[in-house]
Amino acid sequence: MTAVLAAPGNAGIAQIAEQFPVDAASGEQVVALAKEQNVDLVVIGPEVPLVLGVADAVRAAGIACFGPSAEAARIEGSKAFAKDVMNAAGVRTAHSEVVDSPGVLDEALDRFGPTWVVKDDGLAAGKGVVVTTDRAAARDHAAEILENGHPVLLESFLDGPEVSLFCLVDGETVVPLLPAQDHKRVGDGDTGPNTGGMGAYTPLPWLPAETVDVIVEEVVKPVAAELVNRGCGFSGLLYAGLAIGKDGPAVVEFNCRFGDPETQAVLALLESPLGEALNATATGVLADLPPLRWRDGAAVTVVLAAEYYPASPRTGDVITGADAEGVLHAGTKVGDAGGVVSAGGRVLSVVGVGADLSAARDHAYATLGGIKLPGGHFRTDIGLAAVEGRITV
Ligand code: GLY
Repeated sequence: MTAVLAAPGNAGIAQIAEQFPVDAASGEQVVALAKEQNVDLVVIGPEVPLVLGVADAVRAAGIACFGPSAEAARIEGSKAFAKDVMNAAGVRTAHSEVVDSPGVLDEALDRFGPTWVVKDDGLAAGKGVVVTTDRAAARDHAAEILENGHPVLLESFLDGPEVSLFCLVDGETVVPLLPAQDHKRVGDGDTGPNTGGMGAYTPLPWLPAETVDVIVEEVVKPVAAELVNRGCGFSGLLYAGLAIGKDGPAVVEFNCRFGDPETQAVLALLESPLGEALNATATGVLADLPPLRWRDGAAVTVVLAAEYYPASPRTGDVITGADAEGVLHAGTKVGDAGGVVSAGGRVLSVVGVGADLSAARDHAYATLGGIKLPGGHFRTDIGLAAVEGRITV
């Protein structure tokens, strides 16, 4: 039998996959389900189970698993570990300092600026980052992180347009997917607070053709080799977030999983079977996988967010029109009275595909026009700067 099972899933995937209400962060529960259902491959999506070692538990049970070990997942789980690996691998990244006590915060802040980058040195699902020219705002964010018991990572600001490059990694074998660009701020024109991502597009018409090879050779392969050297080789999806500056690519961050919402756009153009690629990675034969095939054209994804996202999103609103083609669910669930209701900050995204970026944008926004969510909001400019030729490197 061929089937996809989701644990726990949402109202979207419920249309194609049986759902199981397990705690995805519990290795015990995930292994029990995988055994009971006799699955061939477990794919772990989010970072929290990976950092907690769910992939280790699944592999220890003799079941193939797509996703890195807890030790390798520290590349996302601990920004300080990621910096150490990058420094050892000779990879260009921002200068940084870890601050773990309020008493030294002010003098540390004085060593950064005029743009401050303040990060939670722990898992914050892409939302623990504040980038600001306002020192008081930087200080407030850092103080809040410290109050929550986490160290703060201060970083120098990396200039240049950002690229997300996802790579399948199996030890030292690296297979890049198409490069994409996220839009992190909540408002049009990159205004307002940072979010987990409000939309993305691929490919990047402004990125020189050789840059993906440069990133693979100068960034991803050295980091993959360094992890192998440390005895924690990476198996899964290594996500490099980079700024393309005057001196070439520099790493903003690594994640140990597919990125959201770039994945929605990137996978829309993938012609090769995704399952085969994930299975080859999980079973250690990525080097034998035939080259990935990609559809011509472009893809754009636009996120529909709940009212008051990212501060304190309201949930429980009824969504209509979410069954249209190209709609991918994130924070949704089936309501008590049936129908689909919002259950998270980023509620769903809409993917448009077209012959070029402009056509893909038109497609995505046309679909979005048919969806109703009270208080819902989205950016109207996803991919627009690229269409208008306003991004240069
Ligand atoms: N695109 C941002 C993230 O997935 O963390």
